[in-house]
Amino acid sequence: MSALFSPFKLKDVTLRNRIAIPPMCQYQASDGLINDWHRVHYAALARGGAGLVIVEATAVAPEGRITPACLGLWNDEQAQALAPVAAAIKAAGAVPGIQIGHAGRKANANRPWEGDDHIAANDARAWQTLSPSAIAFGANLPREPKAMTADDIARVRADFVAAAKRARDAGFEWLELHFAHGYLGQSFFSVHANQRNDAWGGSFEKRSRFLLETLAAVRQVWPEHLPLTARFGVIEYDGRDEETLAESIELARRFKREGLDLLSVSVGFSTPAANIPWAPAFLAPVAERVRREAGLPVASAWGIDTPELAERTVRDGQLDLVMVGRAHLANPHWPFHAARQLGIERTSWVLPAPYAHWLERYSVS
Ligand SMILES: Cc1cc2nc3c(=O)[nH]c(=O)nc-3n(C[C@H](O)[C@H](O)[C@H](O)COP(=O)(O)O)c2cc1C
Repeated sequence: MSALFSPFKLKDVTLRNRIAIPPMCQYQASDGLINDWHRVHYAALARGGAGLVIVEATAVAPEGRITPACLGLWNDEQAQALAPVAAAIKAAGAVPGIQIGHAGRKANANRPWEGDDHIAANDARAWQTLSPSAIAFGANLPREPKAMTADDIARVRADFVAAAKRARDAGFEWLELHFAHGYLGQSFFSVHANQRNDAWGGSFEKRSRFLLETLAAVRQVWPEHLPLTARFGVIEYDGRDEETLAESIELARRFKREGLDLLSVSVGFSTPAANIPWAPAFLAPVAERVRREAGLPVASAWGIDTPELAERTVRDGQLDLVMVGRAHLANPHWPFHAARQLGIERTSWVLPAPYAHWLERYSVS
């Protein structure tokens, strides 16, 4: 009996297995709108057999895009264009999810393969970035952001709520709030980015406030029967790890009290000075600790790309869901191959796809 290929039920949604495709930016949009690239890409991923497909970081406001080519959900046209993507994922047997976020001081960058740095301030595509404090990330992202006013904070919270409503209306059944990776949510929590001394900075409570208030506001509009989740960097690998992790676990408990159904455990990426211990599944033991101490289901990614490793993290109780990212870009049929390698009979979790049929009929291996 495979743990990886057992169904996972959260609220009224059941995933056909524990394999999830994490959000992965495609950097192919114009004005935040999807196009054929995304339509083809997400349908192909969903047909491969994963239980959950989460559409890439989608900005709640224009200035919250990581690059000018990122998706948005700040208007109804964008939501209407995304509806067929949600429908195609569902038709392929996966649950359609979407990640909504605001890139904060890391926004307004060039695409990764075009420099991955801030767009020059005098470029026509430049916009004012926002953050809790006027402190730049540094390294490749040196532009100083504007410190948000109370009005800015209220507006961005309202943007999250409006985007969540649009995601719901577009047919998504799984919402992920992007509170990770050094973007705006993470920046409010991180002492690297937040040096405020008002109600949104300083103590643990004050640094948590933006995240908890945003979650609570989204909870009001996101359907009770559908999973509401967040991605959050619980650790920075900056030398303060035990302290950060203890705070993060307490935050996860408060997320749970506010109605969060699952936490996608990730890295903070709030400082270029971090020393990340890259290795296969390096974050799984950290996720397991969050799962146990906060009492919340968890997902996690980062280098879990072999079937054996994925199976083990679920079987050993480290993760409820395994996020398999780059391996899915390389091979959308990753789950099908994983099942074969783990010796699992083909069952209803994979649709009778042409690929599977021909592979099984004519395989010489
Ligand atoms: C092309 C690409 C785009 C990504 N975009 C996002 C994103 O939109 N949101 C996010 O939270 N993480 C993003 N990530 C991180 C992935 O979700 C994932 O955590 C990472 O690839 C590690 O998992 P893996 O080792 O299975 O690839 C991206 C990663 C890649 C490779």
